[in-house]
Amino acid sequence: MLIRDAVAGDWPRIWPFWHRIVAAGETYTWDPDTPQETARALWTGPAKRVYVAEDPAGAVVGSAYLTPNYGGPAADIANAGFMVDPDRGGHGIGRALAEHVLAEAATHGYRAMVFNAVVETNPAVALWTSLGFTILGTVPHAFAHPRHGRVGLHIMYKALD
Ligand SMILES: CC(C)(COP(=O)(O)OP(=O)(O)OC[C@H]1O[C@@H](n2cnc3c(N)ncnc32)[C@H](O)[C@@H]1OP(=O)(O)O)[C@@H](O)C(=O)NCCC(=O)NCCS
Repeated sequence: MLIRDAVAGDWPRIWPFWHRIVAAGETYTWDPDTPQETARALWTGPAKRVYVAEDPAGAVVGSAYLTPNYGGPAADIANAGFMVDPDRGGHGIGRALAEHVLAEAATHGYRAMVFNAVVETNPAVALWTSLGFTILGTVPHAFAHPRHGRVGLHIMYKALD
């Protein structure tokens, strides 16, 4: 599994799983009907460093972004997002992407990483916890999950220094 910086030509290979994940409405606070150009701006906008996971056959099977979570005097607190093609989940790609992005964040001078809205039913909570993130708090009943009903959104935090 190669994890590398994304290039412009990668977006059309990210979009199919991006769309599938967001359309499912279970993990991100973006509109499930987000059109492709809006999605591209959300994931690859100018403030974002974007990474992809590529399998040995050259298929893009996951992606992540790294960006400041705040501005000005708090611009060294990072935010990141992660997606793995659902057809390729459960094989360590998400963990490898996360470890890569955490290392990148430290390299680029971030002091901590914050996730603003982790759906409390998301199995990814276990991944973030295993990587050292803690739950700072939970916005109760914030997220209308298509299967679980109203569930909370965790704010998760990890210091990088
Ligand atoms: C979250 C996501 C990036 C994980 O990617 P992945 O390649 O499936 O994850 P991995 O195979 O590396 O699994 C890592 C850990 O995640 C957890 N995990 C991931 N999927 C899981 C599932 N379906 N059930 C239970 N645990 C799961 C486990 O703790 C696993 O631990 P392990 O490494 O000890 O096995 C991927 O499931 C995804 O894209 N989900 C939809 C988008 C999303 O939720 N992004 C994160 C928003 S906070």
